[in-house]
Amino acid sequence: MLLCDMLWAMSVAVRLPRRKKAASAPQAADLLAWYDRHRRVMPWRARQGERTPPYAVWLSEIMLQQTTVKTVGPYFEKFLTKWPTVEALALASLDDVLRAWAGLGYYARARNLHACARAVVERHNGIFPDTIEGLLALPGIGDYTAAAVGAIAFDAPAVPVDGNVERVVTRLYAIEEALPAAKPKIKELATSLLPSQRSGDFAQALMDLGATICSPKRPACSLCPWHEPCVARAEGRQEEFPHKAAKKEGKLRRGAAFVVVRDDGFILLRTRPDKGLLAQMTEVPGTAWSHDFNLADAEAGAPLKAGWRRLPGVVEHTFTHFPLELTVFAARVPKSSKAPKDMRWSAVKDVHDEALPTVMRKVLAHAFAMPAPARGRLRKSAR
Ligand code: ADE
Repeated sequence: MLLCDMLWAMSVAVRLPRRKKAASAPQAADLLAWYDRHRRVMPWRARQGERTPPYAVWLSEIMLQQTTVKTVGPYFEKFLTKWPTVEALALASLDDVLRAWAGLGYYARARNLHACARAVVERHNGIFPDTIEGLLALPGIGDYTAAAVGAIAFDAPAVPVDGNVERVVTRLYAIEEALPAAKPKIKELATSLLPSQRSGDFAQALMDLGATICSPKRPACSLCPWHEPCVARAEGRQEEFPHKAAKKEGKLRRGAAFVVVRDDGFILLRTRPDKGLLAQMTEVPGTAWSHDFNLADAEAGAPLKAGWRRLPGVVEHTFTHFPLELTVFAARVPKSSKAPKDMRWSAVKDVHDEALPTVMRKVLAHAFAMPAPARGRLRKSAR
């Protein structure tokens, strides 16, 4: 063989990935046995052998979408205390539900939660449907929630596929296709693993495995019940999965927010329009959020005449489809100041009861953490 042929042959040998075969096929029974020993304790999770009522499963699953287990805990308890049944939630005002939801983000979900409670009461006499089709017909219930509620509350044969489950399955089968295109394949493979009984435990076991052992970085493969059948682990490529298609970042928008406090401790607020981003939520007055926002013109958008002070720094927030930067202006005004049209004065000490979205909580934290503006100190109670 010529030297150049040998070099070519070596380079091919180096470039081609060697596919190792996993030793066996994954078995649901191995995962369930692991779950029986290591299941996480959660406020919405029944004890071993028991089942959580559908209302609590549904509530927790809606809250858990894109929010962490740790954040959801206190909200879940608060909702169950305020509205122990789906009938009670259906009777609540949307405003009260939005207030209780404030801080969990994605307010469309709170609106759908309320609409769904009403639909369960009006269409089903307050009893959640026990089939995937029945659940899917309710407002705010998509594939994931229908599968989660169906499996966990009713043991319906379905697998809810969230980010954790995607990670487990793409590693288990070393799925090379990138997300989101790989979603149907992941769902199909996850469903093929379903045991004939204990669908609810299987779903929660997959979630727990993804959240604990099969973590995005440095997964604890040696502790995994599917260590043997995992193809990515056998190839030593577990951290490569799942492959993700490059995300298009939304273009940055900027704007100004105006925090004005009256001498008697009232802050100027308004309610956002009925439709669109953060619909019907509470905010401090501000300019439009735009790509071509000009800071020099910002004060022209102030709600009233005052000695506005521009606070150093900006408040950053990322919505699903764009990042936002807000410059905050602060002022104090006399007690006699009138609220402009469609705005209201609200006691600073009660501001936490308002339906304030996270971005507005950041704005207030920013304003109230700053040294006092000219007319005296701002009260810290709004932080
Ligand atoms: N994430 C979403 N739903 C969950 C559940 N039921 N248990 C644990 N983690 C979850």
